Amino acid sequence: MGNYAKLWLNYSSKKNNKDCKVLKKIVFSGSFADDKILENAKKELSLGLKDMLGIEPQIIISSDGNTQSCAAKRELTSGKAIADSEVYTISIKDGSIDISAVSSTGILYGVFNLLRTVGCEKDVEKEYASAKTFRPSNPLRMLNHWDNMDGSIERGYSGRSFFYENDEIIINNRTVDYARLIASVGINAVVINNVNVKQAASYMITDRYFEKLAQLGEIFAGYGIGLYLSLNYASTIEIGGMDSADPLDEGVKAWWKEKMAEVFAKIPTLKGFLVKADSEGRPGPFTYGRTQADGANMLADIAKEHGAIIIWRCFVYNCRQDWRDKKTDRARAGYDNFKPMDGDYHDNVILQIKNGPMDFQIREPISPLFGGLTKTNQMLEVQIAQEYTGQQIDVCYLIPMFKEILGFKTYAKSGKDIGNGDDTVADIISGKTFDSRFSGIAAVTNTGNDFNWTGDYLAGANLFGFGRLAFDTGLESDEIAEEFIRMTISNEDGVVDTIKEILLPSRAIYEKYTCPLGIGWMVKPATHYGCSVDGYEYDRWGTYHRADHLGLGVDRTDKGTGYALQYNEPNASIYNSPAACPDELALFFHHLPYTHVLHSGKTVIQHIYDAHFEGYDEAVKLAEKWETLKGKVDDGIFENVSERFKRQLYNAKEWCDQVNTYFHRISGIEDEKGREIW
Ligand code: GCU
Repeated sequence: MGNYAKLWLNYSSKKNNKDCKVLKKIVFSGSFADDKILENAKKELSLGLKDMLGIEPQIIISSDGNTQSCAAKRELTSGKAIADSEVYTISIKDGSIDISAVSSTGILYGVFNLLRTVGCEKDVEKEYASAKTFRPSNPLRMLNHWDNMDGSIERGYSGRSFFYENDEIIINNRTVDYARLIASVGINAVVINNVNVKQAASYMITDRYFEKLAQLGEIFAGYGIGLYLSLNYASTIEIGGMDSADPLDEGVKAWWKEKMAEVFAKIPTLKGFLVKADSEGRPGPFTYGRTQADGANMLADIAKEHGAIIIWRCFVYNCRQDWRDKKTDRARAGYDNFKPMDGDYHDNVILQIKNGPMDFQIREPISPLFGGLTKTNQMLEVQIAQEYTGQQIDVCYLIPMFKEILGFKTYAKSGKDIGNGDDTVADIISGKTFDSRFSGIAAVTNTGNDFNWTGDYLAGANLFGFGRLAFDTGLESDEIAEEFIRMTISNEDGVVDTIKEILLPSRAIYEKYTCPLGIGWMVKPATHYGCSVDGYEYDRWGTYHRADHLGLGVDRTDKGTGYALQYNEPNASIYNSPAACPDELALFFHHLPYTHVLHSGKTVIQHIYDAHFEGYDEAVKLAEKWETLKGKVDDGIFENVSERFKRQLYNAKEWCDQVNTYFHRISGIEDEKGREIW
């Protein structure tokens, strides 16, 4: 690799497995194509084993077929077919490791699995003593880059884009190493440009960029990764010179037909498009009195002729709200806009739904579209770019939060009486619950051209962890953290334990010192970093805490905006009742007096004081733990994280003092413990 960190592919020398006999000869068996992916798999295996163990394995290819992985070709199969094609098995046969698969992507994943075992210093012979088969939980495992073609990154906290500079596409060794890094954790799809498609990015579907995009797509395809582009919904106007983008207009359809034929011919590896329409100022079908389904289906029908899919985002809401208006509720918008057309979206459309109904806050309920939509392909969108979760300054390991999201019971099928949990978000996005044609999970990525890719070394755990979890939603946060640390930072048990003790509680700590009880949004507008209790209170974004001298929170019950009723039972009743609502979401669903007693036995106001003081104290302890690693981890890593912790502590202190002071002043209620409030 060049002048950037190798992260979990650093292949530093390992102690265990040096004399492991089964690693001397490795057989790739099954039926797969002798293609670029296979070549990359062989290269990776040789490099990894040589660097980590000094072993140069004999690699035997024993393939009876010529199957290509679904990820590498453009053909409208199904999510199930994609996942089937990526299955692999690792076993020990006749004294050698056998990696068997039905596609070269499966082989590549098997290689990365084996290298992970070696990288974590697990005993290879024990690990594969009985054959192990791995099947991806989710067919599409995607990263969404919010990179702009001028090189900036929307909500980017780790430098500039490594894809673009001055409206040109960059292709170099880092492009290849990026593909290796993400393929190694199981990512099979990447959208390379910001969902807000503006300026030069609108021209990505013109001959200005075809050549470079074709090259980039080839590199990705060599690692089983499908290339996707964000599309400007109003391309007919912005680059086509037409005066309409009405999805039912014949002229508009004809333009797209010609355009897509050209684009898919010029970029053979392109697998489809992601569209943000009618959202935050972006154009869309609403302008023409059409539905979201009209817009998505028009593009999908044309894309279908080329074996491609359309991923359509559900982030559609009124961003010009009057703060005085208590009836309009941004949280309702996704469901209100998309549920009525459930069943109308064509089968190569996937709706991409943010995990919560608002926007990637540290705590939100799960979007009621999960469980609300029963006849539509769905994908979950999470954000590993830490926009509202510390901006890769504050440590915030997000995998525990993603586990909660995936494990949420939607009751889409089972209903009130059954409640067997057989329809969690994980079940829906794997395709299982509704036997969906396509489904999966996407993360807004946290990468940039910083030396360590993610700004904070510890934020690398979210990139690594997202991929691992997307591939296997059954993995635990703890084991993912451990793999990341062992492969990226150190295999010393003491170091591993200390870093795990930092990562695992970090999300809970961040939540404690920031917005209490699910209310969200007490951040500085525009940057979204740092405390500003009233920053959004009188703004147009639909993001209010509604605090007065008696209480705070948003009434989203049947007596308020009615949002709680968008859930299936029993969730609707639970959220609708202040007595039943879980504490962590109390203020999301209810306007409560400061004296209201939570399940925890504390009043709302005392919870606010305690959580903030504790959150800050715990952040201090995390920083102290990190300091004990001086000399035990690489100096560069140590300094990087140390410096971030200094900034985190400043931030946490401001949050703690500002939130406590604000609510002390407004409520006039003393802290039971008499701590210093300003
Ligand atoms: C957030 C974010 C925007 C982004 C938007 C989206 O609102 O702040 O920068 O464009 O989400 O998801 O489209």
